[in-house]
Amino acid sequence: MKNCKTPINENLLNIIAPMVLKFNSKGIEIGENLARCYVISKYPSSLEYGWLGKLSNVQGVVMLSEFIPQSEGVLISAISKNIAENKVRAISERDDYKRMQAEKRVEDGQNILKQIEENGESIGIMANVMLVLGNSEEALKKNSEKLINTAISLGCNVRQIPFFQEDGFITVSPYGYTTEIMEELVGRVALLSTYIGGYFNLSEGFSDEQGFYFAKDINGKLMIMDLWKRGGDRTNSNIVAVGAPGKGKSTAIKKIILNEYMLGTKILVVDPEREYDTIVKSLGGDWINLGGSNKGNINPLEIKPISLDENDKNEDVYDGIGALALHLQNLEVFFSLCLGKVTERQKAILNANLIKLYNKFNIFWDTDITNINNTDFPIISDLYNILVENKQLEEDTKTIEDYNDLILYIGNLINGQDQFLFNKHTSLHTDSKIVCLDTYDLNNSSERIKKAQYFNIISWCWQQITKDRREKIMLICDEAYLLIDPEIPQTLIGLRNIGKRCRKYEGALVVVSQSIIDFLDPRIKMYGQALLTLPCYKIFLGSDGKDLQEIVDVFELKQIHKDIIQAGVQGRGLLINGSKHYIFNMELADYEAKYILGGKGGR
Ligand SMILES: Nc1ncnc2c1ncn2[C@@H]1O[C@H](COP(=O)(O)OP(=O)(O)OP(=O)(O)O)[C@@H](O)[C@H]1O
Ligand SMILES: [Mg+2]
Repeated sequence: MKNCKTPINENLLNIIAPMVLKFNSKGIEIGENLARCYVISKYPSSLEYGWLGKLSNVQGVVMLSEFIPQSEGVLISAISKNIAENKVRAISERDDYKRMQAEKRVEDGQNILKQIEENGESIGIMANVMLVLGNSEEALKKNSEKLINTAISLGCNVRQIPFFQEDGFITVSPYGYTTEIMEELVGRVALLSTYIGGYFNLSEGFSDEQGFYFAKDINGKLMIMDLWKRGGDRTNSNIVAVGAPGKGKSTAIKKIILNEYMLGTKILVVDPEREYDTIVKSLGGDWINLGGSNKGNINPLEIKPISLDENDKNEDVYDGIGALALHLQNLEVFFSLCLGKVTERQKAILNANLIKLYNKFNIFWDTDITNINNTDFPIISDLYNILVENKQLEEDTKTIEDYNDLILYIGNLINGQDQFLFNKHTSLHTDSKIVCLDTYDLNNSSERIKKAQYFNIISWCWQQITKDRREKIMLICDEAYLLIDPEIPQTLIGLRNIGKRCRKYEGALVVVSQSIIDFLDPRIKMYGQALLTLPCYKIFLGSDGKDLQEIVDVFELKQIHKDIIQAGVQGRGLLINGSKHYIFNMELADYEAKYILGGKGGR
């Protein structure tokens, strides 16, 4: 983990750039200015939020605040040793003042250990060095006094470092490193939250007039969030949630689900980990196994009605084509995903047979399919039969060979283990306000079948979103990386299109993923990156390594936000709301925990 440092001070850079420096034990001459280095030598057991801001805002002060995360084990044993030593001193010391000091140290040490243990707090060495500047002896004295008084009001002690003015200066200056001697001299064990709490200016709480209680901000204030609020940079209700396994993504999303559900939003969850069953069932919702059961099916041959608004027509999304033609395009993707190796000739034969099949079922280019029952659509075995029939009429040996291949592939879909997935009429009862589309059993299917079913599911979900343009509906795709296939990016494109267009239908798309790297594969980056950056609400929980670096680069995060994510404290993260950044702490209310933690989760 890299150190956290305050950003380079441009003013200081300008002051020091062109002139001569002179160091003496009293201070520093910097051209026409005088300066003196101070360090914080003692901290109180707890510091108020924004304490760093208060110190660095003192006139003439340039401050370096650094936090160097340490391995917990080493520091915990050092703190424990220190507690033990001070316990002995507290008993044996005769001097009242020294005894009280030792008792206080024991108490402070125990408090730190308690916070690490109970809240999973990260610890490290914190160092704070301040350079006070003045254009005269008098101004320097005045500014120094202000700094000392401010520090005292915070419960800190500051002191001058007469023999280390040069080291202090180097540390504060934009050279970007802390000399070893400074680290030894000023480093104190601290909780990461103490350091971060010092920057309260980076996070001002927010509260929409309505919505739900999402989390507490860094000042402990409630963050009330209305995902449907529009205005300024809040143009959609989409969410992206990213974080390493077990860091609380699904928990955060379940909290949002619960609250949105209570506010009347319809919820659809695509659940590959079978971890939303408890919350959905306890809210009386529909739980549907879409991994090949006898009950929950989406017939890939069922044509979905087109729901267009004027803007969509202008967007060239459908180019004004009818439902059948559009569905044939979808089927081409579906079959490419699940059959894998079909040639262009075979695709053409399949397409011609599909048109014949639909015609046989009285569905033509201009048929209004909104009134057709789900059982009046063909299913895959009907397609198989028509392929067998039409093969008999062929004379060309090459074409017959293509037919044979297709009959073999399609035959697998109706006879093999996947027959329960695709060869059924649609049988989803989704009248309830919360529906879980469980895909856990797809883990037993081949990659191709899995991807084809996800495409099928996403197409079906889009149909649900567009069905009623006044109904608020939230589609959650947990473990969304499973939907990505760089070779056949249509599911991802479909998802991206939902993200782009759902706001017109009062829809919200929630994408949850452990990693963003899969979304940035050069072959699909143009869609994947949009899926990550389009949402107005971005939630980051603990991450590290390459993943964290990608997050920092893609979302242009500051060091302090990177540190928060890297610290990986459960429930703590960064929320980007429009263009604003908030550090949050998410706790579950008792009633929420009952619904949310009842389920499984994490790995
Ligand atoms: N804010 C929180 N408050 C209380 N418990 C939490 C919180 N966040 C996470 N947990 C606990 O941690 C466990 C793991 O969290 P969760 O399943 O949400 O992680 P995840 O990021 O979705 O992981 P994965 O990537 O493996 O799906 C949960 O079962 C839950 O008990
Ligand atoms: Mg999860």
